[in-house]
Amino acid sequence: MNGAREHWGSRLGFILAAAGSAVGLGNIWRFPYVTGTNGGAAFLIIYLVAIVLIGYPMMITEVGIGRRTQRNPVGAFKALAPNTPWWLVGALGVLTGFVILSYYSVVAGWSLSYIFKAIAGFTPEMAFDELFVGHISQIGEPILWHLIFMALCVGIIAAGVVRGIQRWVKLLMPILAVLLVVVALRALTLPGAGEGVAFYLQPDFSEVTGTTFLDAIGQSFFTLSLGMGAMITYGSYLKKEDTVPGNGAYVVGADTAIAIIAGFAIFPAVFALGLEPGAGAGLTFITLPAVFAEIPAGSFFAFLFFVLLSIAALTSAISLMEVVVAWITDEKGMPRKTATILVGAISFVVGIPTVLGYSVLSDVTFLGFDLLDTYDWIANAIMLPVGGLLTAIFAGYVWTAKKAQEDFNTPPSRIVLGNWYGVMIKFIVPIAIILVLVFGIIDVV
Ligand code: PFF
Repeated sequence: MNGAREHWGSRLGFILAAAGSAVGLGNIWRFPYVTGTNGGAAFLIIYLVAIVLIGYPMMITEVGIGRRTQRNPVGAFKALAPNTPWWLVGALGVLTGFVILSYYSVVAGWSLSYIFKAIAGFTPEMAFDELFVGHISQIGEPILWHLIFMALCVGIIAAGVVRGIQRWVKLLMPILAVLLVVVALRALTLPGAGEGVAFYLQPDFSEVTGTTFLDAIGQSFFTLSLGMGAMITYGSYLKKEDTVPGNGAYVVGADTAIAIIAGFAIFPAVFALGLEPGAGAGLTFITLPAVFAEIPAGSFFAFLFFVLLSIAALTSAISLMEVVVAWITDEKGMPRKTATILVGAISFVVGIPTVLGYSVLSDVTFLGFDLLDTYDWIANAIMLPVGGLLTAIFAGYVWTAKKAQEDFNTPPSRIVLGNWYGVMIKFIVPIAIILVLVFGIIDVV
């Protein structure tokens, strides 16, 4: 495209947008559970080490590649390594964004529908497992919510980086933070909440196994939206004079803080009611509604919770969509609005089989997964790690860690990357990702 590239109006604009991308379903339904079942505070320590050693170096690498090249992921690799096949790493990122968006929108649609179920009221005699299964095994309703959610993304992305993304994250991210704190305070003040806090954080090193480390690394990757060019894309709207190490640190810090607070919102409540914690859809759409049904003004807190979950999903989904839209507008010269509608329409259609997987296509499975979990597994266990691995190898060996480090350190910021950056991006990060990739596949096949 010929027009001048848009840039974030302020550094807060970038930080909120990138934190919005990072804070998503992964923080709310995965992090607390993985922590609780992997030894609590013992896991937290390992997770924080993974964030510092792997998440942070990858974050600044992606943001830095974007800022340096001012391009979408495909264009970014082309700019740094012209006439080589490295642009394919960017293309893999675009494809991954597309795949994740298609089913993330379906799950986000469930969340939207639960806002209205909460308004209608949750009562203790309701059977929440039947309510959830009843909802997802329909066809029209979940597809309609999927469409509504995708339309929201299209509306925001079509309006542009500043007038769309930045404007909305500035409104939504503070609301998300406040709602999460309100729900956490409510949970922590329920009688019997202490047991949940104990389950969540009591360090239990006997639960720490090899898998704990892999879970920590895998989670640090997904939660920070790494491995698929989202941070390259958002970084490409930074100005040259914006710092990379400093801005990256804020994003990583915000994501980690929200994940930790989410644990305080969930476990005290689940344990106070004597229920069993779980992960994923079951925790969010069955266990938590059952908890809310029991507490005073519970439907109101359920409403707040599903609003916050929907916001978290929305600000992540728009970053997925922006990766694809940026590629089409930059590389193919298509006007932004047309590109956005096209991407929204195709992702909507590609997501439909994951809805039908709970009804007419329920016989279709892959490695024992239903269709939605299949999309999720292929994206998370294969596409993100492969994308992240190749990006690290590219930065470390092709662009070279030395040049990357120099580029990221200009202009000077309070955090100065030392030579440790090269050690991380050339050795530690690739080895860690290879382990996650190999064991992730062995585990399932
Ligand atoms: N970081 C998001 C989460 O934790 O739910 C998921 C995600 C969003 C991954 C955007 C990748 C991405 F580009």
